[in-house]
Formats: sequence, C-alpha cells, structure tokens
Amino acid sequence: MANQFDVTIIGTGPGGYVCAIRAAQLGLKVAVVEKRATHGGTCLNIGCIPSKALLHASELYAESKHAFAKMGIKAETSVDFPQMLNFKQEAIDGNTKGIDFLFKKNKITVFRGTGVIAGPGKVSVGSEVIDTKSIIIATGSDVARLKGIEIDEQQIVSSTGALELKQVPATLAIIGAGVIGLELGSVYARLGAKVTVIEYLDRILPGMDNEVAKSFQRILQKQGFAFRLSSKVTAAAKAKDKVTLTVEPAAGGTPESISADVVLVAVGRIPYTAGLGLEAAGVKLDNRGRVEVDDHFATNIPGIYAIGDVIRGPMLAHKAEDEGVALAEILAGQAGHVNYGVIPGVVYTAPEVAAVGKTEEELKAEGVNYKAGKFLFLANGRAKANQTTDGFVKILADAKTDRVLGVHIIGPMAGELIHEAAVLMEFGGSAEDLARTCHAHPTLSEAVKEAAMAVAGRSIHS
Ligand code: NAI
Repeated sequence: MANQFDVTIIGTGPGGYVCAIRAAQLGLKVAVVEKRATHGGTCLNIGCIPSKALLHASELYAESKHAFAKMGIKAETSVDFPQMLNFKQEAIDGNTKGIDFLFKKNKITVFRGTGVIAGPGKVSVGSEVIDTKSIIIATGSDVARLKGIEIDEQQIVSSTGALELKQVPATLAIIGAGVIGLELGSVYARLGAKVTVIEYLDRILPGMDNEVAKSFQRILQKQGFAFRLSSKVTAAAKAKDKVTLTVEPAAGGTPESISADVVLVAVGRIPYTAGLGLEAAGVKLDNRGRVEVDDHFATNIPGIYAIGDVIRGPMLAHKAEDEGVALAEILAGQAGHVNYGVIPGVVYTAPEVAAVGKTEEELKAEGVNYKAGKFLFLANGRAKANQTTDGFVKILADAKTDRVLGVHIIGPMAGELIHEAAVLMEFGGSAEDLARTCHAHPTLSEAVKEAAMAVAGRSIHS
C-alpha cells in the first residue's frame, strides 16, 4: 500500500506545490510528480524568480549610472554578466531548495519523472503506478511559438533563453509588448542593449488600463526603448551573428527589415498538456486547449481536477497558488474559494506597473457609472525625496456606492502598494474607507490615500 494516496498532483510549480502543502496540512496523504530536476515549475526555475533577480541587479546598475551622482555618491560601476547570471542562479537554488524542505516537513512523497494519467485513480511514472483518490493536473504552460520563426534559444530565444544569454546583446528585438517582453527588455536595455519591441496591437500591455499603458510607453521610450506598434513579424532570417526580421504593418502594407543580435519571442504562453494521457482518460479541453473545469476545479472526469496556467484565467503564479489552496480545501471537505475579481497583476519594471480589479475600458464597456480619482507621484513627498516621481495612482469607484472597482498604479513600488487596494477590495471597501485610513508620512502609500481622496474631489496635495 506504499503507493496509495489521497491526492496526487502532477507538476510542482506554484499551483502544484502550494496545493500539495495545503492538502498535507489538512491531513491528506499527498504525492507529487515532477519531471524537472528541481521543484517550482516555470516560475521558480525559468520565470518569475530568475527574471526578478536580473531585474533587481540591472536596476541597481542603472541607478549607479543615472542616479548615484546626483545623490552625491561617487562610484565606477561596470557589468560582470557571468557573475550576474550566478546571482540569478543562487536566487533559483535558494527558492527551489525551500520547496524540498517544505515537502519533507509536510511528509509529501515525491515521484521523479513524467506523470501520465493511466486510468481512474491511477498515475504512472515510468514503471511505477500510483493509486490515488484524486488526481490534480498542475502542469502549467509553455511558450507560444510563431509560425516560421523557430526558437533556437541562442539567437532566437524565448524567455527561457533570454535568461541564459552568454553575453549582453548590442541589439535586441522583442516580438510582443506584453509582460515578458517589457520585463526582459528592461533588463537588457539597462545593461546597454538597444531594444526594439514589435507589437501586433496599437498599444503595449493589452489588458492593462490604457492610460497606464500610454504613460508606461512614454517612460520606456525615455529609457531608450523603441516601439513598432500595429506591426507583425512575417519572417526571420538567421545569419552567423544577426537575425533579420521582416516586419509589416498589422493591416498589411510595405514590409521593412529589422536586424538584431538576438530576437526574443514573447507572444504569450499556451497550456501544457502534452503527454499527460488526457485524451485516453477522456478529459475535456476547451477551444483554447485548456483543461475545462467547473467552479470547483473538477474536470468532466470524476476524481480528476486541474489548477493554474492549464485552466482558464490569467496565467499568474499567485492565481495558481490560490487555486491550489482552494482545491486542497475542497478535497478536504472545506469550502475553498478564489475571488477572481481581486487578483493583482504586476509588471516588475522601473517604474513598476500594478493593477487590481477593472480597468476604465472594462467599466465603460459594462456601462458602469464610475468616478475616478488620480494622484501623481510628482506630488508625493517621499517620491520627491527619492526623485522617483514618474507615474500615478488611479482609483475607480462606483459612482453611487463609492465601492472601489479597480486600482491602477504606475510608479515606484507599485507592486507592493497595490496590495492595500487588494485587501480593501476583498472586503468590499469604498474609496472613502481608504481615504479615511491614516497613512504614515512620508510614504509612497500616501499617494494611494490621496487618489482615494481625489475620488471625492478632496485630495489635499493636488
Ligand atoms: P502577454 O500575453 O503578456 O503578451 C504578449 C504580447 O504579444 C501581447 O501584447 C500580444 O498582443 C503580442 N503579440 C501576440 N502575437 C504577436 C505577433 N504575432 N506579433 C507581435 N506581437 C504579438 O504574454 P507574455 O509577455 O509572453 O507573457 C506570457 C504570460 O506570462 C502572460 O500570461 C503573463 O501574464 C505571464 N507573465 C507574468 C509576469 C508577471 O506577472 N510579472 C511576468 C512574465 C510573464
């Protein structure tokens, strides 16, 4: 009976490993199956964590070049890129080892290899078969590819290859002005690359509030980014040390060429379900290849569940984690729940961009009558002291009830500031609740309070 479990989770990314720990906490006997040598999935190994290490290091370097002198700091800095990659690797190792520790602490059994659903209540890993009451698919997502543009992870790279470049390219072309393109573009722009971003739509960061995206584009341009919006890449030709892209207006027209040392393809991600045995098991996928689940993460096959990037919703680590917790609680007989209306999104650039809830465009499309309050970091004492005054906070509240419906921040520490809005929204709070909450001075958070005051037209500092 050694291989008999209550729950078997395939994939130990943020969704899978968090689900495993929560299920074990609730007294369930848990197995996980992972084919990668280390736990943590894309996020810890080739995504969120390594990119944040490079963003942090490159931002400090950029500050040493552009901000130190005026603060009265004299320093000669230069980039040792191999060492920067070591720094990144240490961040990965520290985090993945942390999961090993947590699995041991929670007595979770780890199977190494590719998990295949071998029938009801059965998962095979190589020659071993696991008997389990429930199976959870937490296999995540993979890089979306573009027809005719083959990723070799050397000259034409995905985010994975972009985190492993041998040297800083002199020129970097990025296909896709989404989160990955702008974060990794920021890393290399700061380290000296000339970055050109080619985006199919007429704006960057689709899905984010348009006013924020416009302001962000201007700031990135000041940092040296070049944008080709409303453009599509139709071909890529590789020479020894250059790639030449054929770029056409999205609506059709005269093509032009853009050459770069390295091309990053960042046009989204697709659910990863290959080799799982889903077809044989009869598990239904939707028209976008995602595992179809109900509100309790159950697939159409009893005993098989799915969470994270492989199902509907934003492909975000924290969304997957919360789904993992909710599903573990449901399987333990509790009432697990995820509030999809309050999932923050953060772009970890400088300045950061963060949002929770509805954008102005969404509220308009839904015909909601709303009020907007906006406050510029330019008028915030702490931002002025730090000379990080780019950006603003915008709060959108229901015109009648004053309930906060969306908060959008571009500015210093936006990715941290957004959580006071998330907590407020989780409790159904109003702009006035936020405006009347005492905020310490001098903090960047005061900009959030002032934006809340601005909803009622009574901001003090603007
Ligand atoms: P994305 O969906 O954020 O952006 C892809 C961009 O590529 C879009 O602007 C899209 O219009 C554009 N695009 C698509 N096809 C194109 C084409 N043929 N030519 C030119 N442009 C094209 O996807 P991205 O940046 O690859 O990220 C993948 C996923 O990973 C997203 O779901 C994202 O939310 C997540 N992620 C989140 C991060 C964060 O939360 N900080 C960091 C990195 C990734």
